[in-house]
Parts: sequence; C-alpha cells; structure tokens
Amino acid sequence: MSTHIGAQAGDIAPLVLMPGDPLRAKWIAETFLEDARCYTEVRGMYGFTGTWQGQRVSVQGSGMGQPSLAIYAHELMAEYDVQSIIRVGSCGAMTERVAVRDIVIASGACTDSSMNRIRFEGLDYAPVADFGLLRAAYDAATAQDLDEAVHVGLIYSSDSFYPARPELSARMVEYGVLAVEMEASALYTLAARHGRRALAICTVSDHLVTGEETTSQEREQTFGAMIEIALTAGLA
Ligand code: HPA
Repeated sequence: MSTHIGAQAGDIAPLVLMPGDPLRAKWIAETFLEDARCYTEVRGMYGFTGTWQGQRVSVQGSGMGQPSLAIYAHELMAEYDVQSIIRVGSCGAMTERVAVRDIVIASGACTDSSMNRIRFEGLDYAPVADFGLLRAAYDAATAQDLDEAVHVGLIYSSDSFYPARPELSARMVEYGVLAVEMEASALYTLAARHGRRALAICTVSDHLVTGEETTSQEREQTFGAMIEIALTAGLA
C-alpha cells in the first residue's frame, strides 16, 4: 500500500486513465472494462483495474486541482511503476474557436499554480504532453470522424475554479490558450520527472465566453467518446 492508494504491488496496470471524479472512475470501469476490480477506496478516491480488448488498464480518480492529482500521480509512478497516465477530464472553453462538447487534447499546459515556481526556484518550465500519446490520441479521434470537434493546443491549469482576476485568464487566450481545467500542468511535470508518459484529454463542459453548458446526458456521451480515444491511444 502507498500512503493514499490501498493497492498491493501488481494490482495496478502500466496504463492508468485518470478522471478527476472518483465516481467517473467507477463509471469508466463499469462501462468500458471487463472483469474490473476495485483496488482502492481510500478517501473514496476509487481505483479499478480490468481489461479492455484483452489488455490490462487501470482507472484512478485524482480529485480536483493540482495538489490532489500530484499525490495520486506521484504514488502511481513512484510506488506502482505506472508507465502512462492519461487524464480524462472536463474543461471550460476560453475562446469561440472551441465549442461545448468538443474535445481538447492538451499539447502543453500553462498554469497560475506556484507548484512549479517552487520546484524550479522561479524559473519557468513548459509542461508538455508525451508526443507518442498525443499523436495516437489525435489519430484515434480522426478515426472516429471527430476531427472537426477535436483541438490540439494549449490549456490553462488554474488553481481557481472561481478566479479572483478573470481578466488574467482572458490574456492567456491572446497567447493561444484554448481551455481551462485544473490538473494537467502537474501531471505533465511529474511524468517528466519520473520519465513516464502523460497526456490530458478534456471534453468541453462549459463555455466561458458564451455561457453555454452541456447537459449531464451530453456530458456522458462526449465523455464516452473521449474514453475510447484514451484507451486506443494508451494501448497503441
Ligand atoms: N474552470 C476550471 N476548470 C474547469 C472548468 C472551468 O471553467 N470547466 C471544467 N473544468
């Protein structure tokens, strides 16, 4: 067992899909995996291992925000030898180039978090996706005829769901940022530190410019398409 994950060595597959919401992890395991078994319930942050098309896959909730994700990503890589983590989450669109229900594959993640500022003693680090996973995810999306609804680009991992200075996030858009979420920057940084592969794929659940939101049924549908993309890319 690690400090926050109640699994034995070998319980967790080399590929982990990581939604923020632990109940999403349960839904993914029940909907997509065969013979799924729950390996941890510590703090209700469920993790499951099963198979998809005959290959072992795990699904682990990360919680919301970079500090929470960093705990689970660190323990998965340092203590369970996990090789690849694909975040499967939601994001808010920051520009009209992106619509609700679209999928954003994050090539890199900007942030307002102090985690990397402390780690690099004030130097800027550019957290980026693993190119092999990124390319495989884009290819999988194209094969599903989703290419017009799929964007590859920068996202913004914010520490604040309710930002005190929204105008600062608007400036990010002038520099090409497409969408906001709260976890990818820490994931990319930790994967680099451990020499592992990481990717964040997000479905757009709400639009910061138009105010449009998706219904829970729509969220489930696009979420499902994203899971197929993540599984295909992770096991390619
Ligand atoms: N902000 C931060 N994270 C999010 C959002 C948002 O608007 N939507 C989905 N995840």
